[in-house]
This record gives sequence, structure tokens and C-alpha cells, in this order.
Amino acid sequence: MRIVMVGSGYVGLVSGACFADFGHDVVCVDKAAEKIEALNNGIMPIYEPGLDALVASNRSAGRLSFTTDLGPAVAAADVVFIAVGTPSRRGDGHADLSYVYAAAEEIARAIKGFTVVVTKSTVPVGTGDEVERIIRETNPDADFAVVSNPEFLREGAAIDDFKRPDRIVVGVTDDRARGVMTEVYRPLYLNQSPLVFTGRRTSELIKYAANAFLAMKITFINEIADLCERVGADVQDVSRGIGLDGRIGAKFLHAGPGYGGSCFPKDTLALVKTAQDHDSPVRLIETTIAINDNRKRAMGRRVIAALGGDVRGKKIGLLGLTFKPNTDDMRDSPAIAIVQTLKDAGAVVSGYDPEGMDNARQMMDIDFASGPYQVAERAAALVLVTEWNEFRALDLSRLKSTMVSPVFVDLRNVYRAPEVEAHGFTYHAVGKAD
Ligand code: UGA
Repeated sequence: MRIVMVGSGYVGLVSGACFADFGHDVVCVDKAAEKIEALNNGIMPIYEPGLDALVASNRSAGRLSFTTDLGPAVAAADVVFIAVGTPSRRGDGHADLSYVYAAAEEIARAIKGFTVVVTKSTVPVGTGDEVERIIRETNPDADFAVVSNPEFLREGAAIDDFKRPDRIVVGVTDDRARGVMTEVYRPLYLNQSPLVFTGRRTSELIKYAANAFLAMKITFINEIADLCERVGADVQDVSRGIGLDGRIGAKFLHAGPGYGGSCFPKDTLALVKTAQDHDSPVRLIETTIAINDNRKRAMGRRVIAALGGDVRGKKIGLLGLTFKPNTDDMRDSPAIAIVQTLKDAGAVVSGYDPEGMDNARQMMDIDFASGPYQVAERAAALVLVTEWNEFRALDLSRLKSTMVSPVFVDLRNVYRAPEVEAHGFTYHAVGKAD
């Protein structure tokens, strides 16, 4: 199959590289000339484990190329994926679809022969209908079908998620398009990954429902964690105790500082807006968003409380700044709200992140340290914000030796109280009585 990915951001790039690895012929298109030039020189615009090697091997095999020129690529394609951004629209939280619609128009002008146009970007219910209308209006002679095929990739594990998916969802009604999509995913289909064929609107909603459910699951365990602290219970044991029930499932029950990233915050908000517009509010999700927003600042207050309520002029060190490990993504990271809360209270904040420093510099004004031990120097407290592997086996004695007071706030429950306390720290975890 000849595949074009319009948009070479996170989703477009990972999907394009993986499709090429399946043996398809893939062209990734992007308007940003410097990004395409960098990709043509083997430089990735994002940090994603394994992506550079996957891109390099498929480029040298001649199956993957990058261009700014959409027209010729689309004209030769069997399938064109729209994988451009859908940020939250300023002011109202609706998904901003202007990039999707602009891409649809450009694709329409270039289509030659039967072409399947697939929305891979996360788009609200009904967007496929609008894409279809735009293409028909722009090019009335075009022979095409519009399909929805949402992605379920986690940053940091995206290649694995793509190659070993729990399921592939395809919203399609046209039989020819269904045949093409079956061909596109044949390697996974042969591997027994379930292919869920459904209507286009249903497929669009599945994506939002999945992310909203996961965000709600995390928020549920975070509230239970708060309750554990009050009643003297242990949230990790609660997670295990309920997660072993197959109906609940153990995944996404890690209590922490609240969910962040480029997906859950944006998608939950967009779902709420869609539901309100259709007079069918999703109150569980509205509440999930409110609880999660509060939680991020509450984590900052928890650090202040751990230092006796006064942090003015004290140095507080943050281990990890990204919204989760194995990414350089800082979008909606809990670290942002935590830093703000601490600075508002007069603290001097220092931080270190293995991959997110460049992005963090653009989002927060703190002292950036060169490693975990530098973060600890003269700090009154250390806060583990992101569970990077390199923070899992720190030399606790070495950390403590340069701190002014040995307070350790572990917002990801990476450590166990006895081991940290044995080194003379006061240890605070999430969802466990102090
Ligand atoms: C999420 C979904 O997991 C993907 O399936 C989906 O495709 C993607 O959004 C998307 O819509 O593009 P991602 O945002 O990369 O992926 O990250 P997750 O691993 O889901 O983590 C999201 C947030 O939840 C992080 O801040 C993480 O720390 C937090 N989290 C996750 C918890 O606090 N506890 C958990 O148990 C799990």
C-alpha cells in the first residue's frame, strides 16, 4: 500500500515509521520545512524510545521518506492519514479543527484515483462527516471515502503500542475502504490483534470514551489515595486488592500527582464540550477534570506542609519535570502547577529531568540542575515528581549529605518508607499515612 501521513508530529511520525516497517511505502508530509529537513538528516523532532532507529532503517530500505510537498505524494497514494494537531481552542476548550480541515482541503485538490482519507488525529464526533463534505465540495470529481481510525499510542511506549495493540478501531461504511484498511493493518491482523469495524461516528467517540475512562480511573484512585491518608490505609495495596478483580483491572491504578500530557487533559475537555452541545452532559468527566486540576496544586501544598507550612526562601528540588517518564513532553505536566504553588509561597525551586529540560526551560523559571544530586544540594526538601528509571535507585545517603533538611516527598510511590527513613529522611508518599 502507498500511504501518506499528513502531519509529521508525534502520531504521524510514529504511525508512518511503523507502517513502513510493516512493508508499506510511506511518505510523511509536514508544512514545517525545518522539521522535514531535520528528519531527512535523521534528527527526530521528539524523544521517543526506538523511533530514530526505526526511521533510519526504513529510510535506508527506501520505504519511508519525508517531504513538504503534499500534492505529488497524495496523488500517488492509496491511503492518506490526517495526523495533524487538534489543540484545545483558546477560550472554550473545544478541539480546534482548523488544521484538520485545511489538510482535508489540500488533500482534496491532490487526490487521483480511489483514495481512502483517514482521520487519525483525535477528532470530535461528526468531524469525518465534515471532512467528507470539504473534500466533495473542493473536488466534486474525487473518488474517495473518509474513514476514522483513532490512535491509542502512549508516549514513551508508542512503537510497542502500535505494533502490539489491544485493538484497532476502524470507523468505515464504504466496502472498498474497508478492504483497503484491512490491507493496511494486515500484518497486525495476522498477529491476531482484534480489528473493530464500526460506524465512523462510533469510532470517533470510542477514542474519547477510552481516554476519558482512563483519566477517570486515575482520578478515582487518586481520591482513594487521599482517603487512605486520612484513614491509615495503603493505596498501593488497595490498587492491588481491587485491580486483581478482572472486571476492574490492575492498570492505570497508580496514584500520583494527577494526570497530564497532551491527551487526557485536552480530550476530556473536548468530550465535555461535545456532550454539553448535544444536551447530554458527562458529569463524571466534568468532575474528573475539576478534581485533577485541583490535585496538581494540592501536591504543591503537600510539599509546603511537609516543610511545616513555611517554605519562604527555602530551596526545594524536583526530580522529574515531564508529565511521565520516557518523554520530553511537558504539556500539562503536574510539575508546572507544583512549581507555581511553591514559588507563590516564596520557595526557590530547582529541578532536573533526564529528557525534558529544553521544553521545561520554555515553561518555567526555576534553577535547572545537571542531575539528581545537584538538585539535592542545599535543598530543604526533594520531591519526586516523575518516575524516571534513573530516580529509582538513588544513593540516598549521598542525597541527604548535601541537603539542609532531609525531607523526601515521593509523589509516585517509587520508594518504600523503611528504606528512605533508614537513611534519616522524613518520607512522605501518596496514599499512605505519614
Ligand atoms: C494516553 C493514552 O494512554 C493512550 O492510549 C492514548 O493514545 C493517548 O493518551 C492519546 O490520546 O494520544 P499518554 O498521554 O501518552 O497516552 O500517557 P499515559 O501513559 O496514558 O499517561 C497519562 C497521564 O496519566 C500521565 O500523567 C501519567 O503519569 C498518568 N497516570 C497514568 C497516572 O497518574 N497513573 C496511572 O496509573 C497511569
